[in-house]
Amino acid sequence: TGLAAVETDRGPLTSYDPGFVNTAACRSSITYIDGDAGILEHRGYPIEELAEKSSFLEVAYLLSNGELPTEAQLTEWEYQVNRHRLVHENVYDIIQSFRYDAHPMAKLMAGVVSQMTFYPSSRRLSEPESRELNAFRLLGKMPTMAAATFRHSIGRHAVYPSDELGYVENFLAMLFQSQQRVWRADPRLVRALEVLFILHADHEQNCSTTAVRTVASSGNDVYTAAAAGIGALFGPLHGGANEAVLKMLREIGSLDRVPEFIEGVKNGRGRLMGFGHRVYKNYDPRAKVIKKAVDDVFEVRGMNPLLDIAVELEKIALNDEYFVKRKLYPNVDFYSGLIYEALNFPTEMFTVLFAVPRTAGWIAHWTEQLTDPDQRIIRPKQLYTGYERREYVPMADR
Ligand code: ACO
Repeated sequence: TGLAAVETDRGPLTSYDPGFVNTAACRSSITYIDGDAGILEHRGYPIEELAEKSSFLEVAYLLSNGELPTEAQLTEWEYQVNRHRLVHENVYDIIQSFRYDAHPMAKLMAGVVSQMTFYPSSRRLSEPESRELNAFRLLGKMPTMAAATFRHSIGRHAVYPSDELGYVENFLAMLFQSQQRVWRADPRLVRALEVLFILHADHEQNCSTTAVRTVASSGNDVYTAAAAGIGALFGPLHGGANEAVLKMLREIGSLDRVPEFIEGVKNGRGRLMGFGHRVYKNYDPRAKVIKKAVDDVFEVRGMNPLLDIAVELEKIALNDEYFVKRKLYPNVDFYSGLIYEALNFPTEMFTVLFAVPRTAGWIAHWTEQLTDPDQRIIRPKQLYTGYERREYVPMADR
């Protein structure tokens, strides 16, 4: 793991743990993971049940409030989120000021951090009402800004949010509507995206959530913290794996080439993308749920031959000693890219589709970080490996 207890001649005993593989930086009551058993629970509820029975906003409520909402609480919560979906007109200008082909994550990050300038009250962190109001604003506006980045990239005007549509359906309409009348997606596609939103809502102290908590720890508003989370998620080691899965499936190209590809992976020629996880040494519970969503989406949109390749890869790998011995199972990204593609999203939007629902988790962790009396500014130690003190050399003598 790289973990070591190190005694240096310059200070007391220090634990050296690159990547914080074994170091807990906080106590948290939001999400529980048992990677060996393949368990993921939010506030005690298994992800499988939430994905089957809840809506995304219900899960967002659960993450932030600790309990499932009553019907009245959920109605009020949905109202508070959805009434904040509109963004200031200048936000569209900010997003449109970028090159049309700039990565949507960069445009989204700029849009999110700009919210702090429109809502200066967001800096009043000691006031619970201000924290809550700005959390509603962020959750409400996230799909609006995400959709605006996409519309800008295809040269279309942005679509305003509609009061007639729910959170996920409205997001799809803002992305794909081409006329003025209200656009409605097939309910099976809306539910499939809603399930993906639920599966991506939170995953305890992952890289982007850790970035959010770190930025929160120096006393920052929810927008600045979420922008840091978007930056962390942007990296290919975190949010970008589903893109890599699609690329791999295309490269394999046909069913008969699957065994040859698996042999190549076993001989060190690349990895089987979408397999393996730092925490899960068992089937990622989210991957199981996604498989069900895949069937629904392909029923509506027709089959994609890449799905057959994915199924065959999984079948062979799960029965191959190389993968069994290393406890390599499909992770959440193995099938999610196929669903996004079937929903007509270009691959650069895949990470954005991760950022929108993960905002629910970021908000819950941001609040927990700010309200935990144990917490202080996050400031890890280092093991210094540089020079001992030496004499300054004047410029003329260097
Ligand atoms: N294909 C083939 N072999 C693999 C794979 C894979 N996908 N993943 C791990 N291995 C092998 C490694 O080569 C290593 O073998 P060795 O012991 O013979 O050297 C062993 O399994 C352990 O692998 P590590 O890299 O040490 O595992 P780690 O926990 O550090 O990495 C990771 C986890 C990054 C997810 C890795 O499994 C991987 O690269 N997977 C493919 C990329 C991917 O799907 N990422 C998405 C993760 S989910 C998410 O971020 C939302």
